[in-house]
Amino acid sequence: MLLPLSNASPSPEPQIKKPKGPLDFKRNDPFKSLKAFLAAHYPSFNQPRICLFLSIFFIQILLLVAFRSLPLSLHRRRQHFPSPFSTRHHQHLNQTVATIATAPSIVKEEGSCEFGKIFVYELPSALNKELVSNCDELNPWSSSCAALSNDGFGPVATGISSVVPENLSPAWYWTDQFVSEILVHNRILNHKCRTQDPNNASAFYIPFYAGLAVGKFLFFNYSSAKERDSHCEMMLKWVQEQPYFQRNDGWDHFMTMGRISWDFRRSKDKDWGSSCIYKQGMRNITRLLIERNPWDYFDVGVPYPTGFHPRRDDDVVQWQDFVRNRNRKNLFCFAGAKRSLVKNDFRGLLLNHCRNASDSCRVVDCAGSKCSNGTSLILETFLDSAFCLQPRGDSFTRRSIFDCMIAGSIPVLFWKRSAYYQYEWFLPGRTGELLGVHRSK
Ligand SMILES: *[C@@H]1O[C@H](CO)[C@@H](O)[C@H](O)[C@H]1NC(C)=O
Ligand SMILES: *[C@@H]1O[C@H](CO)[C@@H](O)[C@H](O)[C@H]1NC(C)=O
Ligand SMILES: *[C@@H]1O[C@H](CO)[C@@H](O)[C@H](O)[C@H]1NC(C)=O
Ligand SMILES: *[C@@H]1O[C@H](CO)[C@@H](O)[C@H](O)[C@H]1NC(C)=O
Ligand SMILES: *[C@@H]1O[C@H](CO)[C@@H](O)[C@H](O)[C@H]1NC(C)=O
Ligand SMILES: *[C@@H]1O[C@H](CO)[C@@H](O)[C@H](O)[C@H]1NC(C)=O
Repeated sequence: MLLPLSNASPSPEPQIKKPKGPLDFKRNDPFKSLKAFLAAHYPSFNQPRICLFLSIFFIQILLLVAFRSLPLSLHRRRQHFPSPFSTRHHQHLNQTVATIATAPSIVKEEGSCEFGKIFVYELPSALNKELVSNCDELNPWSSSCAALSNDGFGPVATGISSVVPENLSPAWYWTDQFVSEILVHNRILNHKCRTQDPNNASAFYIPFYAGLAVGKFLFFNYSSAKERDSHCEMMLKWVQEQPYFQRNDGWDHFMTMGRISWDFRRSKDKDWGSSCIYKQGMRNITRLLIERNPWDYFDVGVPYPTGFHPRRDDDVVQWQDFVRNRNRKNLFCFAGAKRSLVKNDFRGLLLNHCRNASDSCRVVDCAGSKCSNGTSLILETFLDSAFCLQPRGDSFTRRSIFDCMIAGSIPVLFWKRSAYYQYEWFLPGRTGELLGVHRSK
């Protein structure tokens, strides 16, 4: 949300609002002046002076009252790249689902590209392909080569064949949660709206594998800040030299960052992660992230990859039939591990509650590597449960939320930042809208 809501925790850093960019001037945006007003009145909550805080607080209440009566379209106007769902969600639900789910290898026939075409840069291979080919060096413990195989889908999930319909089994892979850079890159390369002529493009994709590049250094405690930033700096130097970047100051450029936003927001040298997002040249580039910073307009939350990679539209329809007709034996389930080092760890509490309610709640205790060794246990548990409990993990979001939804189970969320403030292009932004989607089916 652009607005800090009353129950959101204070922003850990200054908010990045939609500034006036070149694309903005071409638009007729009735809310522009309102947003400028908001931007002027929402400095960071870190301000020490109490009187300033009080006046901000007062303005906030005024705005909250005012915003209740504003039309919903405000949501939709925020992005300078339009949401894939906002315009067609209700009218063509089937079509949209099918479009999202098509496998990367399938080139769609030429259609109208009403939002324009995408040009994909050919970056120096050190920024993408080379990272994949050096897959055995991407983390300190084990090789990532299996995880990155099959164009990022990972190994075929033979272990779940007993749980899913036989002919859909080949559409399931053990897909890693941090591979969206590879998946999105491949999808865009094969997209019907990709153009090879940058003059015909209205958007430019930068296929930098930012998460893979930094993942390599995150867990080596002797890696320097310079090392962790080196790929990002190389990318920014390269891209800022491109004439099409300069044309609109990067406003029409976007990329995928396959980890959570906080992995790219290091402020001090000794802290966690890279400082990629804070680099000067990143300012106007839109980022697709599995977890966004809700206070940064340029972060867009996109779902974590799951293991289901339908080959055809038909696979989606068949899978939907399968999960809809499933007899769900358990009311709830919880799949996860507690953090024994954390006092009063919420996941631990939830796990105990679930254990105690064993007639309605099924537990999958994922301590150790029990849930990542190729077992069908989790998918089976989600398929058998009406609801799945989804507390926050090490960050606010969890890949498990999507594993749960794919299995037709309903995620139970405990923090708004786990979904409502994250995936506005993909999930209902408000609780009530969920019912609306159901009715329209
Ligand atoms: C969606 O697809 C199903 C199965 O192909 C079809 O029966 C249904 O009528 C479609 N719904 C809409 C709204 O097009
Ligand atoms: C680019 O657009 C021009 C007209 O604007 C058109 O003639 C040309 O064929 C297009 N090129 C491609 C590769 O689509
Ligand atoms: C990280 O540092 C600690 C001590 O500070 C050391 O015990 C550990 O082996 C180091 N780990 C790696 C991967 O270098
Ligand atoms: C971002 O866009 C603004 C407005 O067009 C421009 O003034 C600024 O130089 C751009 N910043 C970067 C780092 O490209
Ligand atoms: C679960 O049950 C045990 C034994 O009856 C009890 O001591 C414990 O407090 C319960 N825990 C929760 C979270 O309800
Ligand atoms: C995975 O771990 C579970 C629990 O430890 C075990 O029962 C199962 O056999 C393992 N599966 C594989 C494929 O190793």
